[in-house]
Amino acid sequence: MVKLGVNIDHVATLRNARGESFPDPIQAALVAEENGADGITAHLREDRRHIRDNDILELKAAIKTRLNLEMANTGEMVAIACKLRPYMVTLVPERREELTTEGGLNVLGNLDSLQRSTALLKDAGILVSLFVEPSENQIAASAQTGAEFVELHTGKYAHAYTAGSPKEELGRLIQAADQSKELGLQVNAGHGLNYENTLDILVIPHLVELNIGHSLISESVFTGLGSAVGRMKALISVPASSPV
Ligand code: PXP
Repeated sequence: MVKLGVNIDHVATLRNARGESFPDPIQAALVAEENGADGITAHLREDRRHIRDNDILELKAAIKTRLNLEMANTGEMVAIACKLRPYMVTLVPERREELTTEGGLNVLGNLDSLQRSTALLKDAGILVSLFVEPSENQIAASAQTGAEFVELHTGKYAHAYTAGSPKEELGRLIQAADQSKELGLQVNAGHGLNYENTLDILVIPHLVELNIGHSLISESVFTGLGSAVGRMKALISVPASSPV
C-alpha cells in the first residue's frame, strides 16, 4: 500500500503570520500521525519562512513515525541534516522568491555537487531522495548520484488534471516510475495532490509514498472551522453580567 507523508509547513506559515507560538506544527504532526500519516515532511527553507530550525529538532524528538526533511542542496543544509539525522532528506531546488517548490532539481547540471551531498548524507545514515520532474534525463542522472529515492514532481499533472487533460502527464509519471525502478531507484511522488486528483495517481507503478501538504492543511480549515466557531459561541452564550 502506498504510504502517506504529511507536510506540515503551512501550519508554521500560519503561526509565523502572527508571530505567536500557535498553531504549533509539532501538534499538527502528532494529529496527522494519530490519523494514519506514515511520515511527516517539513521543508527547512533558507529564509525560514515557515519551518524553523527549532521546529525540526522538536519534530524529530516528538514524532513516532519518520521525518522527511526537505531542503536545498547547500552546505548549510547538509550540515544541519547530518547533525539532525532525519530518516530521509529530500533535496529540492529552492529559489527565495518562489511561492512553493516550482520545479524539479536539475540533477544533470549539478551532478558533482549532488553526488558529494548524497555521500555525506548517506554516511550520516540518512536516506536520500531527489525531487525531480518525470524526465528521462533527470532520472538517469539521479541514478548516478547514489540516492536511494526519487520523488516525482506531480505539479504539472495536478495542473493538467484541473485543466481536464491529465493523461499525457500521467503517462510521463508512469514512464518515469518504470525507468526509476529499472535503475534501482525507489519512487515517491508529490506536489499539488488533493482529494480530486490523487486517486488517479495510484496507477503509477512502484509508488512507495505520496507527500501531501497544502490541500490537507486547507481542507482542515473547513473541517474544523464549524466546531471552532461553535465552541466560542457556546462559551460566550451566558447571560451578560451587570456592569459594576
Ligand atoms: N513534495 C515536495 C518535494 C515539496 O516541495 C512539496 C511542497 O512543499 C510537497 C511534496 C507537497 O506539495 P503540496 O503542498 O502541494 O501538497
